[in-house]
Amino acid sequence: MSNKRLVEDYESRFIWEMMERMGYLASTPGVRELNNYPLYEELVRTSEIVGVSSNLRVVRDGTASPVGERKTLVVDIDGVPVGFFAVMGEDVMSTARPPEGITFENDDPIETATAVVPELRKKAEIVVLMSQLGPTDTRRLIEQVPGIDVALFGRRPAWKEQAAKEANTIVQQTGLRGQYFGELVLIVDPDGRIADWGSRNIVLDAQTPEHDEIAQAVKEAEAAAKELIRTRQEDRRAEAEDELSSEHFLGADKCRRCHESEYRQWESTAHAAAWRTLEQDGKHTQDQCISCHVTGWEKAGGFLNRNASQDLVNVQCEACHGVGTQHARGSKVKPITEETCTACHTGEWGKDFDYAVALAKVDHTHP
Ligand code: HEC
Ligand code: HEC
Ligand code: HEC
Ligand code: HEC
Repeated sequence: MSNKRLVEDYESRFIWEMMERMGYLASTPGVRELNNYPLYEELVRTSEIVGVSSNLRVVRDGTASPVGERKTLVVDIDGVPVGFFAVMGEDVMSTARPPEGITFENDDPIETATAVVPELRKKAEIVVLMSQLGPTDTRRLIEQVPGIDVALFGRRPAWKEQAAKEANTIVQQTGLRGQYFGELVLIVDPDGRIADWGSRNIVLDAQTPEHDEIAQAVKEAEAAAKELIRTRQEDRRAEAEDELSSEHFLGADKCRRCHESEYRQWESTAHAAAWRTLEQDGKHTQDQCISCHVTGWEKAGGFLNRNASQDLVNVQCEACHGVGTQHARGSKVKPITEETCTACHTGEWGKDFDYAVALAKVDHTHP
């Protein structure tokens, strides 16, 4: 994860926490949330704010599941049941760059709204659309689907000083990036009709006083984000040092420096020619053959591939004696047992394996 991403994640968590403190009831994802879907899922799951999405699904490992927690939400606001639904458009989906292995699919927004709104009206007196369609498509939707009282624009919203009535819907556009504050007041009849309404959308500029508690929280969050990057850089440094000092296979040439006689004996065994055997068969490119004909296959610091690991082809000293870095620094080598050999002398390659007989053939203790 990049530092930038780390800070973005931190900010997202912080913003979410602040939204919760401010009493947000519901939310629907935008580009940023699709781009970091695992975090969005976590935030929805762990917060009080309900994730609403009526037409969006996430696809992972070929399986689709709904995005968010609910397709619709009905909440009692000052004694009035208010229903929320949310639709996502192609526009947002095509600009999203979700993480590897995650894609999204949606149902047609107008078809979804046509099905959802009448259902919602049965339970709610006021129906609110949270739109991620962009202004043009949102307008088309409210013209074609009756029964939407309020439309909130979340995708490319303009800033309007006041909400406006379009078709039979009150359209509320309060600008981008949390730099504005939108207020919409509805006066609702006992029979559930909107008798009157008014709005006031404020630009949060220098004239808007800071809220002490929030300003303090922002300051703390900024300091914490800096600290996050600092400790991360320290971790990285420690990891790099660890990497340098960690165990890796040295190769027979290094062992030879101190064990010439054992080296010469080994050189005369079939083990020292195991790679050539594969090459002669043209099988030195095949993983299923390489594993037993090299040193340290699939072990940390062992044979990786033909190009990177030419010094670790053949069944070298460390294939039997184990990785040698610690030993080269002075510690003992682990003792050899029959299992050391049968790791490779197994199955079709171990049919005639007799430990005592075989051991005698590789013996270099009394050269
Ligand atoms: C810097 C010199 C040096 C290098 C390099 C070295 N060894 Fe050793 N090795 C020794 C010495 C000295 C001993 C005897 C140590 C003892 O008796 O405690 C020894 C002992 C051994 C033994 C006997 C068992 C034991 O632990 O005492 C084996 C097996 C062994 N080395 C294998 C290897 C292998 C495999 C390599 C290459 C990865 C290697 N050595 C590289 C110096 C070296
Ligand atoms: C990393 C895998 C591996 C390990 C561990 C291993 N061998 Fe081998 N061994 C081979 C391969 C591969 C060959 C065949 C080499 C060739 O002919 O190209 C072989 C060949 C041999 C041969 C020659 C076969 C013959 O009879 O001509 C003997 C003997 C032998 N190994 C004994 C041992 C003993 C004893 C051990 C344990 C102390 C051992 N090997 C550990 C992979 C291994
Ligand atoms: C599980 C470990 C292992 C794998 C995997 C393996 N080998 Fe071997 N191979 C051995 C051992 C051990 C020997 C020595 C057998 C003996 O002679 O005792 C050997 C020997 C050989 C020999 C020479 C002796 C003979 O029997 O002809 C050839 C050739 C060979 N292997 C080719 C291959 C090819 C090709 C593959 C991939 C299809 C392969 N090996 C995969 C362990 C393995
Ligand atoms: C096929 C397995 C195998 C391979 C490959 C192998 N050894 Fe050994 N080595 C043994 C066995 C078995 C012993 C006997 C001691 C034991 O059981 O630990 C031994 C013992 C040793 C000893 C101790 C010698 C003594 O006199 O006690 C040294 C040193 C050693 N090996 C170095 C090497 C070096 C260096 C290489 C590579 C050039 C190498 N070995 C490759 C199996 C192997």
